[in-house]
This record gives sequence, C-alpha cells and structure tokens, in this order.
Amino acid sequence: MTAAPRSGEPAIVQVALGERAYDIVIGRGVLPSLGSRVATLKPGAKAAIVADEAVAGLHLAATTATLAAANIPAVTVNVPQGEGSKSFAMFERVCEALIEARIERGDLVVALGGGVVGDLAGFAAAAVRRGLDYVQVPTSLLAQVDSSVGGKTAINSSRGKNLVGAFHQPILVAADTALLDTLPPREFRAGYAEVVKYGMLGDAGFFAWLDANAADVFAGAGNAREHAIATCCRMKAEIVARDERETGDRALLNLGHTFGHAFEAAAGFSQRLLHGEAVALGCTLAFEFSTRLGLMPGNDAARVAQHLAAQGLPTRIADLQGPVADADRLMDLIAQDKKVRRGKLTFILVRGIGRAFVAPDVDPAEVRTFLSEKLSER
Ligand SMILES: NC(=O)c1ccc[n+]([C@@H]2O[C@H](COP(=O)([O-])OP(=O)(O)OC[C@H]3O[C@@H](n4cnc5c(N)ncnc54)[C@H](O)[C@@H]3O)[C@@H](O)[C@H]2O)c1
Repeated sequence: MTAAPRSGEPAIVQVALGERAYDIVIGRGVLPSLGSRVATLKPGAKAAIVADEAVAGLHLAATTATLAAANIPAVTVNVPQGEGSKSFAMFERVCEALIEARIERGDLVVALGGGVVGDLAGFAAAAVRRGLDYVQVPTSLLAQVDSSVGGKTAINSSRGKNLVGAFHQPILVAADTALLDTLPPREFRAGYAEVVKYGMLGDAGFFAWLDANAADVFAGAGNAREHAIATCCRMKAEIVARDERETGDRALLNLGHTFGHAFEAAAGFSQRLLHGEAVALGCTLAFEFSTRLGLMPGNDAARVAQHLAAQGLPTRIADLQGPVADADRLMDLIAQDKKVRRGKLTFILVRGIGRAFVAPDVDPAEVRTFLSEKLSER
C-alpha cells in the first residue's frame, strides 16, 4: 500500500498503456481544472458532454463553466438516469446527437455521470467516426474506483448485461470527490463494496486500512476518501496495464461477481439489489466457498463479512429483500454468465485477504451444494 497523498493535492495515477496511456486525476475540487487539462490534451477541440440527467441538474453547470473558461465550446446530450439507458435505442440517440453536433475526430466526448453514462458515452465515442477521444468525469463512487478506468465500454443486450461494447480507453479521467457529496448514501455504500474488493483481491494492508478508516471514508473526513479512491485506481491501473483485454489477471477484478451477478440477475437488475450490494454478498460467498474448498485456513471469511456488514452491506442471503431464486435458478444464471468449459466453471477464489486467483476448474456440483446450504440458512 502506498502513502496517502497530501491533503488538498490531487493524486495522479497513470494508466501505462503506451500511446494510449492516460492520467486519472483524483481529488476534492479537480473539476474546475478539467477545461485547462482538456485544452492541453486537445487544443482547439470542441466537446459534447453526455450527462446523466439527474447528475446534470447538480453538476453540469460547473462542467460547462470549466470548459468555457478554457474556450472549449460544449453541447450537452442528456441521458435518463438508470441502467435502462445502456440500450440500443439510447446508444443510437447519443451517436446521432454527436454526429448532429459535428463532433469530429479532433473533438471530444465528456461522460458526466456514473457507470451507466460512462459505459454508454464511452461506447458511442468508440463507434462514432470509428473512434472519438473521450474523457471520463465519474460522479459515483463505483465509477470513480472502477468503471471509468480501463476502457471497457458497453450497452446491454436483451440476453444479458454488457454484451455489446468495445475496449476504448479514455484520454483522461477526472474524479472529483466533491461530486460524491450529492450521491445518495445507498449508492455510496454500494460503491464502497467495490473499494473493499480491491483490498480483498490484492492488498491485505489496504483492507486493514479500510477496516480502521471506513468511517472517515464514508464521512469524507481528512483525505481518507481520496486516499481510498487513489489506492483503488492505482491497483486497477496496474492490472489494466498488465492485461488490457482481460486474457488473464484482469479477471481478478471480478472477485465476488459470479455469485453476485447471479443474485443481481435474479432480482432483475432492479433497485432491489444494487450492483455493489450484490458484489458485497458475492465477495462474502467467494471467501466462504474458498474456505470450504480448504484453500484458506483462519478467519478471513469472517473478517470480510464483518467489515462489509458493519458498513450496512448485505453479506448473507437472509439480508436480501423479497423472494430469492433457488439453487437451480442461481446455477443457471451462473452458467449463463460463465461458460462451462469441459464441465468446469472459472471462479475467482482466494487463499486469504489480498490473495485472489483465477480458478479455471471449479466443479459446478460443489458450487450448487454450497449455494443450497447457504439458501437453507435463510
Ligand atoms: N466499464 C466497466 O469497467 C464497469 C465496471 C463496473 C461497472 N460498470 C457498469 O457501471 C454501471 C453501474 O454504475 P453506477 O453504480 O455508477 O450506476 P449509475 O450510473 O446508474 O449511477 C447510480 C445512481 O447514482 C446517480 N448519481 C451518480 N452520480 C451522482 C452524483 N454525484 N450525485 C447524485 N446522484 C448521482 C445516478 O443518477 C444513478 O441514479 C453498470 O451499468 C455496470 O455495468 C462498468
């Protein structure tokens, strides 16, 4: 784990991808510097801001103002909030709006919002005129620590999430932690599960730091929040630089996602269970399953569950609202999500906190038995 940056100074994390390298700038109050940063990267560009409608009401004026101060003319394309906007229809609308605004190769798309807008605007930027530059201005905690970094962009198909998309790296990520002040607490908490995920998958020291400092991260006290976000971005940047297209290590970022995704899909990707909440439950189950497979002596599974539960995140199936799918349905969803290869599933398992690995040979029967037992504990 690296030292916390000095309070007030933005942390800059580089994603080292050769000619596609870019900076992630993290700090309270970095948004007002967006215009000058963009002007340096793309002199003479004009911009189209693709904005989550709800976020636009809160932060569009400041975004337009910083661009205007740097003489960057900008149009805005508003997108309704919610996962439903990652659709073919909305993708078409955004693409047409960019073309109508005459956004050319020398210009820029700015994604202003959470992961939904980041994924949608990024994909439109990848597609229009065979690739426009874009900047991510992530406004949710999940987007600041995860979706805005690494260049995965996508919309959903009727057959599943994120099935149509492209790898397209942004040229800059500007994560202003002050924007999180307006994020609903439940969304912040859900994003926090992704923060803990980084500690759980690869940095036991960071997990211990979170265990001691979670209250400050939630309260935005000192520079705890900035330190946590920068630590996550540093880890993600390193993983992406090693494995941009997820042929190996990048899959570690999916810790907790196989179990989590099954519960999320069973809840219909609705407000009943937010993505980060599903990840919290999924990570707890991944630790418990790893313990059961004999991979991990000691009480790390309990430490993980305790930490997540203490922040109000679900860690037991009993914590879920409403009806829960049975083991057969969950196994169907897991099999859809993860191709079964030669009768085996690929899972991200752990040998302890900070020691995740890709296990390509998990027996579906063991997963099923484990889930049945967990369901019976309800
Ligand atoms: N590309 C990737 O690598 C990657 C990684 C993880 C997740 N994702 C995607 O990210 C999406 C989830 O992202 P999310 O959790 O940010 O969801 P989101 O974009 O829907 O944002 C969550 C909610 O918070 C609101 N919001 C966002 N910022 C706000 C702010 N500052 N103030 C007030 N309200 C604000 C939004 O309007 C929305 O209602 C999913 O579609 C998921 O597939 C992508």
